[in-house]
Amino acid sequence: MMVSDMEKLAIKGGKPVRTKPFPSWPVFGEKELRLLREVVESGVWGVGGKMKEKFERKFAELQDAKYALAVANGTLAIEVALRAAGIGKGDEVILPSYTFVGTASPVVYVNAKPVFVDIDPETYCIDPEAVEKAVTERTKAIIPVHVAGQPADMDRLTEIAETYNLTLIEDAAQAHCSEWDGRRVGAIGDMGIFSFQSSKNLNCGEGGAIVTNDDELYRLCWSIHNCGRELGGEWYRHVRLGGNCRMTEFQAAILLAQLDRLEEQSRRREENALYLTERLSAVSGVEPLKRLPKVTRHSYHLYIFRYLESEFEGLSRDRFIEALRAEGIPCSPGYTPLHRMDFLNGRVSGRLENTERACYREAVWLKQNVLLGTREDMDSIVEAIEKIRENVSQLL
Ligand SMILES: Cc1ncc(COP(=O)(O)O)c(C=O)c1O
Repeated sequence: MMVSDMEKLAIKGGKPVRTKPFPSWPVFGEKELRLLREVVESGVWGVGGKMKEKFERKFAELQDAKYALAVANGTLAIEVALRAAGIGKGDEVILPSYTFVGTASPVVYVNAKPVFVDIDPETYCIDPEAVEKAVTERTKAIIPVHVAGQPADMDRLTEIAETYNLTLIEDAAQAHCSEWDGRRVGAIGDMGIFSFQSSKNLNCGEGGAIVTNDDELYRLCWSIHNCGRELGGEWYRHVRLGGNCRMTEFQAAILLAQLDRLEEQSRRREENALYLTERLSAVSGVEPLKRLPKVTRHSYHLYIFRYLESEFEGLSRDRFIEALRAEGIPCSPGYTPLHRMDFLNGRVSGRLENTERACYREAVWLKQNVLLGTREDMDSIVEAIEKIRENVSQLL
């Protein structure tokens, strides 16, 4: 084909597939303003306010949990959960290397050792067989991450945790409303954590929560998040070491308002994601992540597909991403592997080949707000990928 017969790629100065932006994030309205005003005017901006407690009740119900505890952010939520489980010096905690650094840094903060294991090559979630291989007599906990919002294999992980008597802490930072076999994630394990940081599907700028069905773990988390006080105890009676990890009333007010939109937005993301998967499955060279059959609901905080450079005549993933962005599709390569971050001082179990391939050569991420678009918006993503594929020689 002559260059003149080909469609010029946008990165080479051609016309982009789209110039219209995807839906912006966050979405907000009058209710956020009304509830914030209510907090300001009440004069109770922190301890003693009604918003945090109300949000905790609603969020626990949303995630099929007995308790939810609202904290300042997701990273602290993991730290509180680890401390409540009694994890500390000399203990090992197994987690994937393919996750945000905030999954691992709390393990280091409590003086335990992160043990990084590989992910499944098709789902990018922690590989349960790699978890089992990494267990030693020092192992105390597993932190599976529900990457992009897809629940990890909770059946196998629960079985492993029970066999070796390990605490199971779900990192559900990205998995609001996600379900494993009909049950919302978070309190399937001993404890689960969520993030409400600004990019998240449920967002208040910064925020986090711990959910659990366990009375004792809840009591401990509450105490640790509130300066070591006892639940229902006196204000200046501190019975253990704790921090101030409390969420403010302002954060909770925003979350209460945002909760109203969550169901509709979640449905839209999932509908669009399923449509995108159907269409991308017909395009060679890109493969949507596999969805496990027991994932009955997926938050699609991210839509991740695998880019196979061999099908694009060897064009690197990073160059592909540049070309896709130029066509008007916002996308990114995502994580770099945590096991390569020396300051985490982790132990690596196995070769983590799938993690390295995902991070350096394969993963392409679309953010959740892209999935709030229309069918035509989804079609434009497919069109842009096909355009690059058909005209890849312009980039070689
Ligand atoms: C998988 C995962 N774990 C932990 C965190 C930490 O949450 P936060 O940013 O609220 O501290 C995040 C969010 O950024 C995350 O995506």
